[in-house]
Amino acid sequence: MSGKRGTSRIGVGLIGFGTIGTGVVKVLRENAPVIEQRLGAELRLVRIADLDLETDRGVELSDIRFDADASGLIADPEVQIVIELIGGYDVARRFILEALAAGKHVVTANKALLALHGRELFGAAEAAGLDIAFEAAVGGGIPVLRSLREGLAANRIERVLGILNGTTNYVLTEMERTGEDFDVVLKRAQDLGYAEADPTFDVDGIDAAHKLALLTTMAFGAELTFEDIPTEGIRGLRPIDFELATEFGYRIKLLGIARSHRSADGEERIEVGVQPTMVPESSLLAKVDGAMNAIEVRGNAVGPTLYYGAGAGEMPTASAVVADLMEIAREIVRGGRGRVAPLSYQPRFIEAKSFVTDAERHGRALLRLIVRDEAGTLGRIATLLGESGIAIESIVRRGQGEAGPVSIVVLTRSASEEAFQKATEGLSALPEVLETPRRIRIEEEG
Ligand code: HSE
Repeated sequence: MSGKRGTSRIGVGLIGFGTIGTGVVKVLRENAPVIEQRLGAELRLVRIADLDLETDRGVELSDIRFDADASGLIADPEVQIVIELIGGYDVARRFILEALAAGKHVVTANKALLALHGRELFGAAEAAGLDIAFEAAVGGGIPVLRSLREGLAANRIERVLGILNGTTNYVLTEMERTGEDFDVVLKRAQDLGYAEADPTFDVDGIDAAHKLALLTTMAFGAELTFEDIPTEGIRGLRPIDFELATEFGYRIKLLGIARSHRSADGEERIEVGVQPTMVPESSLLAKVDGAMNAIEVRGNAVGPTLYYGAGAGEMPTASAVVADLMEIAREIVRGGRGRVAPLSYQPRFIEAKSFVTDAERHGRALLRLIVRDEAGTLGRIATLLGESGIAIESIVRRGQGEAGPVSIVVLTRSASEEAFQKATEGLSALPEVLETPRRIRIEEEG
C-alpha cells in the first residue's frame, strides 16, 4: 500500500480500547511525524474493537472504524498488525491465535497470558512465520526486553534482579515514609488510583512473577511458567520491619530475582523467586521510590546494567507498544520477519533447566517474630536458631512487654533456605510465638 510522499503504509488494528489503548492512539497521532521519519513508513490505525462503544476516550476517531467486532478487525485485509490490549487469559488468547491464523503479526502487553501460555502462542507465531512483540509486558515503557534481546545479546546473563511492580513499590515506599500499617497505605493507594480495587495480582507478587517468568526465559533460555516461581507478596509486612530495616541500613523492596548458578562442569541451574527483600540503602535499587520500576541485568562481559523508568501508565506503556509496532513494521517494509528471536533465544534452544535446591540457596535475612514476653523466650529463640544452623548477627526486642505481645527481630548470618524453613517450623511451634515468623531476605549487592 502506498502512503503520503511515497512511503509505505502499514495498517494496524487495536483490540481493547482502555487506558493503554487510548495512549496508543495518542502516541500514533501526536508522534506521527517522528515515527514516519524513523520508520520510513506510515503506521495507520485503521480499526479499533472494544465492547464499550460509549465512553469518550478524548481522542479523535473520525478516520478510524470503531466497533465491537474483534474478529472482523482481525480478518480485515487492511490490518497487518493486531494489537491485543484486553488483558486476561481466555479471550485474549483466542484473539491472538485467531490473528496468527489470519496471518497477522501481534503486539501485546499481556504478561499474564504470555507467562502462562507463552509456549503455545510463540509456537503458533513461529509456525505461521509471524511475530509476537511484547515490550510493554515487562517494565511498561522501559525498553528492558529489547536490551536483553539485542544490546546484551553477546553476554551470558548472570542475573536479573528488579522492582517489577509499581503498585507494591508505591505501598512499600509509603509504609516506610509514614510508619503506617499495610491496610491503611493500600487503601490510600486505591483511592489515589495507584492500586486496583482488587489488588491481589500486585500485592501477592503474581504480576511480578509473570514479568519475571518472561525475563528468566529471555535471560537464560529457560523454559518455565510463572507457576514455577516461588512467590511471596507484601501482605503481612509491618511498620516494625521497615523501622528495623532502616536501623540496619537497608530498604525493603519487592524484588524479582533470577540468577544463574554454574557448576565447575558448566551445568547451569537457575535460582528464581519473587519476595520482599532488603537491599543496602546505598544501592541504586534502594533509591527507586513510588510507582517506578527498575531492573538490573548483569552480563558476564558488560557487568551490571540498570534500566529505570515508568513501569505502568497510559503514555509510557503506549510508548513500548508503538515501538513494537515499528519493529514489526520495519520487517514488513523490508519483506522479512524474525530478525531477532522474540524470547531472545532461538526456540530450539529454550529448554527446561534445573532449579537450585533449598540446601544450595544461601543468604542473610531479617526474621521478625511476634511473641508473648516471657522469661527465657529470647534464649529459646536463639537456641532454636542455633540448632537449625542459623547464626545471629544482631537481635532486637521492641514493644511494651509484661502482658502484651512484643516484636523480636533477628538479623541473621548467611544460612541455607533449608535451615530457614526448619527454623520457621520450629519457631512457629513454640507456645509463646503468636504468629508465623516473617522472614525478609537480604540481597547484599542490590
Ligand atoms: N499493576 C502493574 C504495576 C501495572 O503496578 O506495576 C503494570 O504491569
